[in-house]
Amino acid sequence: MKPEVFHPLARLVHWLMAILIIGMLFIGVSMVGDLSPRHPLLVELHKATGLALLVLVIVRIGLRLTLPHPPLPADLPAFQRFAAGASHLLLYGLMLAMPLLGWAMLSAGGYPRPLQLPAIAPHDLQLYAVLRQAHGWAGYLLFATVLVHLGAALMHALVRRDGVLRSMWPGPVRRSE
Ligand code: HEM
Ligand code: HEM
Repeated sequence: MKPEVFHPLARLVHWLMAILIIGMLFIGVSMVGDLSPRHPLLVELHKATGLALLVLVIVRIGLRLTLPHPPLPADLPAFQRFAAGASHLLLYGLMLAMPLLGWAMLSAGGYPRPLQLPAIAPHDLQLYAVLRQAHGWAGYLLFATVLVHLGAALMHALVRRDGVLRSMWPGPVRRSE
C-alpha cells in the first residue's frame, strides 16, 4: 500500500533544505560585487551552508530511493504528471550540482575550501572562470525552478485541492476520511 503523505523524515529534510536553499540564493546574490566588511563572513556562511546542503541532498536521495512515497493524484492529466516528474528531477539535479560546482570552482581558483576538503578540479584559472559562470547560471535556473514549483504547489492547494500540498506539509497531518 502506498502512503498518503511523505514520510516525516522526508518532509523534515524537504523543508529544512527549502529554507537553506532559499537563504543560499539570497546570500549568493548579495555576495556578488559586495566589497563591504561583511563580505568574508557571507562567503564563509555560504560555503559552510553549501557543504551542509551537499550532505543533506545525498541523504535525501537515499531516502527517496528507499522510503515509500505517495502517488500523484490518479486524475492528474498526463502533461502535469510529466511536468511534476521532470521538474522534481531538475530540482534534485540542481540541488546536487550547486554545491559540487561551488566546491569545484574553489578548487580551480585555488581558494580555501571548508574543512580543508581536497580539490576536486585542477588549479586552472580558465576552468575557474567557466565554473564560476556555471555556478551563477545554475543558481538562477534553480531560482526559476523553485518559483515554478511554488506555483505548482499553490495550484494543487487552491485550484485542484487534491491533497498534494498536504502530502508534503511540514507539521503533523491528520488522516483523510
Ligand atoms: C545549494 C547550494 C548553493 C546555492 C543555491 C548557491 C547559490 C549561489 C548564487 C545564486 C550565487 C551568485 C551567483 C552570481 O550572481 O553569479 C553564488 C555565488 C557564489 N557561491 Fe554559491 N551556492 C551554493 C553552494 C556553494 C558552495 C558549496 C560554495 C563553495 C564551497 C559556493 C561558493 C560560491 C562563491 C565563491 C560565489 C561567488 C561569490 C562572489 O563572487 O563574491 N556556493 N552562489
Ligand atoms: C528551495 C525550495 C524547494 C525545493 C528545492 C523543493 C524540492 C522538492 C522536490 C525535489 C520534491 C520532490 C519530492 C519527491 O517526489 O521526491 C518536492 C516535492 C514537493 N514540494 Fe518542494 N521544494 C522547495 C520548496 C517548496 C515550497 C516552498 C513548497 C510549498 C509551498 C513545496 C511544496 C512541495 C510539495 C507539495 C511537494 C510534493 C509534490 C508531490 O507529491 O510530488 N516545496 N519539493
